[in-house]
Amino acid sequence: MKYQKPRGTVDIYYQKAEQFFAIEIIIRQLASKYNFNEIKTPIFESKPLFVRSVGENSDIVEKELFELSDKKDRQFALRPEGTAGVVRSIIEDKIYGGEYELPLKLFYFGPMFRYERPQQGRLRQFNHFGVEIVGAKSYLLDVETILFAYNIIKTLGIKNIAVKLNMLVNDKQVYLKVLLNYLQTKSLCEDCQRRIVKNPLRILDCKLDASKFADCPKMYDFLDEADKKYFDSITKTLTKLDLPWSIDHNLVRGLDYYTSVVFEIVSLDEKQGSQSTLIGGGRYDKLFEELKGPNLPAIGFAAGIERLMIALENENIQLVNDTYIDAYVICLNEKARYFASSLLLMLRTAGYRIDCDYLDRSVKAQFKSSDRLNAKFTIIVGEEELKNQLVTIKSKKTRKEKAVKFEKIIDFFVNNKE
Ligand code: HAM
Repeated sequence: MKYQKPRGTVDIYYQKAEQFFAIEIIIRQLASKYNFNEIKTPIFESKPLFVRSVGENSDIVEKELFELSDKKDRQFALRPEGTAGVVRSIIEDKIYGGEYELPLKLFYFGPMFRYERPQQGRLRQFNHFGVEIVGAKSYLLDVETILFAYNIIKTLGIKNIAVKLNMLVNDKQVYLKVLLNYLQTKSLCEDCQRRIVKNPLRILDCKLDASKFADCPKMYDFLDEADKKYFDSITKTLTKLDLPWSIDHNLVRGLDYYTSVVFEIVSLDEKQGSQSTLIGGGRYDKLFEELKGPNLPAIGFAAGIERLMIALENENIQLVNDTYIDAYVICLNEKARYFASSLLLMLRTAGYRIDCDYLDRSVKAQFKSSDRLNAKFTIIVGEEELKNQLVTIKSKKTRKEKAVKFEKIIDFFVNNKE
């Protein structure tokens, strides 16, 4: 039997893993500048947590949960997203007030699981960088959150994007009546015919039907004065900060907990395909109470790392320069191999990236390995060298060789940065 990875999963190695890690480092550095703290929550949680938070009638809960039960038949699900677990943790451990300064500014990295039909940019296991800011409602905080998301994209160097915003109506009932009236005149796809009963708002951002809704009644026109003012303050400040944004009246997002401003950063590159949302988020001011916690307003977003990787590839952005090692040690005989072990240790302790042969290869083959590993220097150790307590170091760049005394090897590397 041949073993294969499960459908909708990927193996990430070598250059891709380097790119993945580089994204993570860049984002972590940004998170630190915005003064965020890391939170790690379990990869699986009780199923009802997701039903209650993400929404019983959301696609994620209805169709996409990876469900599991334990030996006592308790129902769990692999987390489809990170917000629910973070909120659960804050409520459970009372991470608010006291020693915890509000607003909490939390971030997480980790795998998420959705049983979706796989395609480019849509996986069954994918990775989020997410943030949740808890315990404050201020339009300036919302601006800062959107700015943080935008800064991730800019710092990575991705150019071809748009920032879309919308404001969800507080009192959904009035708007829903108008919307349902309007939808009666439209022919809807199979999914939307189901949504019209269970979750009509979601129809607005259906990928199949979207083009039919250009003349749809706008939620903005149904906002109360306070919400309108709040949203306008956000957009005005974003404009002042030179952040390019546009309003997308049909942006509702696929998770039921959003209550106010929502936003997405989408790639405009055709090669990104239909899964073009790189980052999505919004304000969820009622979720804490919904999950039996205190009244804590909150906002957050999550970026799909795999989609960022596709966007980077489309724009030919390689975050990691050609991989290289500082030196490759070539041993001309057995004695040299024995000596090499302490040489490797010494150089690695001094902070250099060093390798050597472990397959008893011929000298010629060792030179080839040095080349393939892109070693800046090749260190040659043989009979003659050991006798004279030195090594020969050859530079890849200049092709020149130099005899270096044992005790001067570190000095050589300090003084020869290529
Ligand atoms: P979301 O929009 O469902 O939001 O997911 C965030 C991002 O994850 C998407 O914009 C996309 O880049 C990526 N993503 C989603 N599904 C997949 C998939 N199947 N394969 C690959 N990438 C995917 C949330 O999850 C919210 N928890 C965000 C949030 C945090 N809102 C407030 N706080």
